[in-house]
Amino acid sequence: MTSPSPDSPAELTLEEKASLTSGSATWYSTAAGDISRLMLTDGPHGLRRQQEGGDNLGIGDSVPATCFPPAVGLGSSWNVDLAHRIGEALGREARAQGVHVLLGPGMNIKRSPLGGRNFEYVSEDPHITGRIAAALVRGIQSRGVAATPKHFAVNNQETDRMRVSADVDERTLREIYLPAFEHVVTEAKPWALMSAYNRINGTFASEDPALLTDLLRGEWGFDGVLVSDWGAVNDRVASVAAGLDLEMPPSDTDAEIVDAVNNGTLDEAVLDTVAERLRLLAARTTDPALATDPVDVDAHHRLAADAAAEAMVLLRNEGDLLPLDPAADARIAVIGEFARTPRYQGGGSSRVVPTRLSGALEEITALIGPENVAFAPGFSLTDNPDTAAALTEEAVAAATGANRILLFLGLPDGFESEGFDRDTLALPAGQLALLERLTTLNIPIVVVLSNGATVEVAEWASSVEAILETWLLGQGGGLATAEVLFGLASPGGRLTETIPLRLSDTPSFLHFPGRDGHVGYGEGVYVGYRHYNTLDVPVAYEFGFGLGYTRFDYDDLAVVPGTDPHTWLVSATVTNVGERAGSEVVQLYVGTTENTPTRPAQELRGFAKVHLVSGESERVTLHLNARDFATWDAGQHRWRVDAGAYTVQVGSSSRRIHLSETIAVPGDDWVSELSEYSTVGEWFAHPVGGPLLQSVRDRMEAFAAGGAPELLRMVEQVPIIKLVSWKMGLTLERVREMVAFVASQR
Ligand code: BGC
Repeated sequence: MTSPSPDSPAELTLEEKASLTSGSATWYSTAAGDISRLMLTDGPHGLRRQQEGGDNLGIGDSVPATCFPPAVGLGSSWNVDLAHRIGEALGREARAQGVHVLLGPGMNIKRSPLGGRNFEYVSEDPHITGRIAAALVRGIQSRGVAATPKHFAVNNQETDRMRVSADVDERTLREIYLPAFEHVVTEAKPWALMSAYNRINGTFASEDPALLTDLLRGEWGFDGVLVSDWGAVNDRVASVAAGLDLEMPPSDTDAEIVDAVNNGTLDEAVLDTVAERLRLLAARTTDPALATDPVDVDAHHRLAADAAAEAMVLLRNEGDLLPLDPAADARIAVIGEFARTPRYQGGGSSRVVPTRLSGALEEITALIGPENVAFAPGFSLTDNPDTAAALTEEAVAAATGANRILLFLGLPDGFESEGFDRDTLALPAGQLALLERLTTLNIPIVVVLSNGATVEVAEWASSVEAILETWLLGQGGGLATAEVLFGLASPGGRLTETIPLRLSDTPSFLHFPGRDGHVGYGEGVYVGYRHYNTLDVPVAYEFGFGLGYTRFDYDDLAVVPGTDPHTWLVSATVTNVGERAGSEVVQLYVGTTENTPTRPAQELRGFAKVHLVSGESERVTLHLNARDFATWDAGQHRWRVDAGAYTVQVGSSSRRIHLSETIAVPGDDWVSELSEYSTVGEWFAHPVGGPLLQSVRDRMEAFAAGGAPELLRMVEQVPIIKLVSWKMGLTLERVREMVAFVASQR
């Protein structure tokens, strides 16, 4: 028999084990025995490592770090390699600062464009969310720092975020709100994960054993440390019992854990498991074999700027106004406070103190010379009506005589942040009034938008020549914006969220953000484009859309079965047929018209970003597997592939499908359970049960032939047990025998 090693969990006292389940300070876990204290730090697009002795919130009080584009921008790049490189850079900076656990990426689904924290999330779609997040996780962890995808799960609003119950059905959970987390856990294997504040169907996410243990660890194989969101624990014992390892920040309630073990309500083995997980996390994040790379601040700034160019979405470009020609298009009027005071990240826990920062005005001036630039702020960031008239007149004066207006509009921090949701999609009224006034000058206008989530554009889009949606771009955004406007770089972004015509068109409009402590997810799986494109709802700009400075052709679609059943290889050739180099996001959707409206007409199942010079082609191959055709069967609690015709669609947006092919997909070979309460129709359709009911079917068909054709369809809806009293030749005993027989054949 081997004796336990001196530092094994068994050597820790009960009190020490209890102390491990909570932090020792706002940003630190607790040390005990051989388990070292670890530092946890925000955040998702840059490090927010607090200065020693700083206040607990630490916002604005952190060590300078590279501010990369927040998830809204990075997601719009659709560039998985870029996300990996940014992950590496985040990991490098974290490690250099002694940070073991980085609290990101954020990966909740943008259920409503009103979500105050949408800028920290990737998309309304789980596929791209999972892919971008997984790349970030791999990049961060490659530098020996734990990533912490968050907030698990169904944290899709800020209103009442610490209490609200997200009331969501099982299928919608599985198809929309969980798959990105599933992907990141199974593919990128994060060493930590953060549970959310909110309740799900009445149970706090931080206290739900079905979510935290059965699903996350049991089904998906998560082996990392599950940390609470800051302050998300309400019942210490319930959360530890449910599978939460680490409460943050500490609440000084360790005695509750000790008492629970002593009075038998909590198994001490649960604490041993927590200790093992924290030991593993410490080993993973203090690997002496992995060197701490020096941080090259300049290189990270350049990476941030390159990422910013990849993130911008060119929505409109009438007469190819963009890119501007520095010689022919000067003199330029740069109007809008955001040109001088960039909004480059969002408010709240993810706010980074950047290593450097320049606004677009500064960079444009450096590029084309101060003599070619006239600037006026045009509006105040508080949308103050008292100063509006004077600022507008100043802007008109600056624009007079210019041959192009670059108008920088957007949402100030006071209109959009972590902690609250918006209640309108409109830009601030003062900005809209300025825009209207400037359009009367008959000078071509390029609107450059800075906003963390979708704003309404349809009302005014046709009154300007170009719209560049820059989202929030991080510290390199000013430089990248100047480079994109003047053609030194191309706008590489595509929409990861639909821009609707108006708020009342949005799928969650009737439910969001709920009331009386509950928010219903009544739109079900019809989130974002799954709603607009299934119902053909007109939108301003569809999911996946974005222009560039060149054009691409799509040819030669091939959809070839793979070696495993239910797998296909989808290939297409993309060619840059324009004059300039540029990037294209080749998007793969699977569509079906057979089962709509019980499933979305179309869903994103793959994408690839290609960068091609003029005339260049690339053959892109993407993969489909059974899950890409499956829906969640809430009756059987499993994925199910329905046999049928599916269209494989390849395009440059969800509504610009250039190539498509219909394939016949076989159903999966699962033989479902049948019960006494399965309907006659379900029995008829069942490969084992159907033949057992042949005599009933014969009688029904005879009735139908005898002049009662509706009878067969009526009976199909009836649970089989009801036929017992209908004298259809079925006894209760026979029904039970048949149920048992079907079960024995599975
Ligand atoms: C946020 C988390 C963040 C944590 C620590 C919470 O309010 O929801 O995303 O990581 O604070 O700052």
